[in-house]
Amino acid sequence: MDDNVVIKLSGITKRFGYGDATSFALKDFDLEVKRGEFIMIMGPSGCGKTTLLNIIGLLDRATEGEYILNGEDVSDISSSRQARLRARKIGFIFQDFNLIQNLTIIENVALPLVYVNRPRTVRLKAASNVLGRFHLSEKEYYRPSQLSGGQKQRVAIARAIVSDPEIILADEPTGNLDSRSSNIVMDELKAIHEEGNTIIMVTHNPALTVYATRVINMLDGQIHTDVKTVEDHNLPKPVVAKSRKRFNRRALKKGLFNVDAF
Ligand SMILES: Nc1ncnc2c1ncn2[C@@H]1O[C@H](COP(=O)(O)OP(=O)(O)OP(=O)(O)O)[C@@H](O)[C@H]1O
Ligand SMILES: [Mg+2]
Repeated sequence: MDDNVVIKLSGITKRFGYGDATSFALKDFDLEVKRGEFIMIMGPSGCGKTTLLNIIGLLDRATEGEYILNGEDVSDISSSRQARLRARKIGFIFQDFNLIQNLTIIENVALPLVYVNRPRTVRLKAASNVLGRFHLSEKEYYRPSQLSGGQKQRVAIARAIVSDPEIILADEPTGNLDSRSSNIVMDELKAIHEEGNTIIMVTHNPALTVYATRVINMLDGQIHTDVKTVEDHNLPKPVVAKSRKRFNRRALKKGLFNVDAF
């Protein structure tokens, strides 16, 4: 298989319910995603967008069909293997932020690193480093309820990228934001994309498709239109992502952060 293909879905079907109550959220769905694509998924409410992201993000599994992630068939893997793969490879951003209210901001951002077995001090330093990038350093010990919507979503993006996943999935990340906060969030996603990461984002806002390299319109559990606006050979390469990792490690080594408060 082409090394640049990170996600390959073939004949994916998702059925909910049985008998008279049966409905299909996805029907015989095929999709190939190349490294460095920024795909926007649009389509009417109920057409299967969230179901698709949940399956790609290993939060749910298809009723039928094959899912290859980075060359590995993950269609029938165990839930614990799903969770481990998800922690290493995938960052999620949700419309309603999904921050844990009784954890501080830095603890929220550090959370995904628990699942990849990093020591606590390393987790906190990495979280602090990413929050700095998002100009949220002074909010590290706040609780989510003390932040604005835009700040919460930036925290959620920080959490999604803290473990350096190659794939970022975002389900209407600007759906609850005003236009100014929405632009800030989109600029952050754009920067993450330019570092060579693959992004799949659901949106109802056609104006945001200017950020995409490919726009997929879904209808009734299937792809209706699929338009690439950037050719594959012009997609960003993950070179900068590596230097970002080096930068992270350098910042970690400096040991500037007070981690005793965790
Ligand atoms: N857990 C579930 N049980 C039963 N039906 C479900 C479940 N989750 C989703 N569905 C159904 O699957 C279809 C697709 O839902 P999905 O949430 O993927 O739509 P969507 O495109 O994300 O819509 P929206 O734009 O409103 O978020 C809908 O008809 C929905 O009712
Ligand atoms: Mg949805």
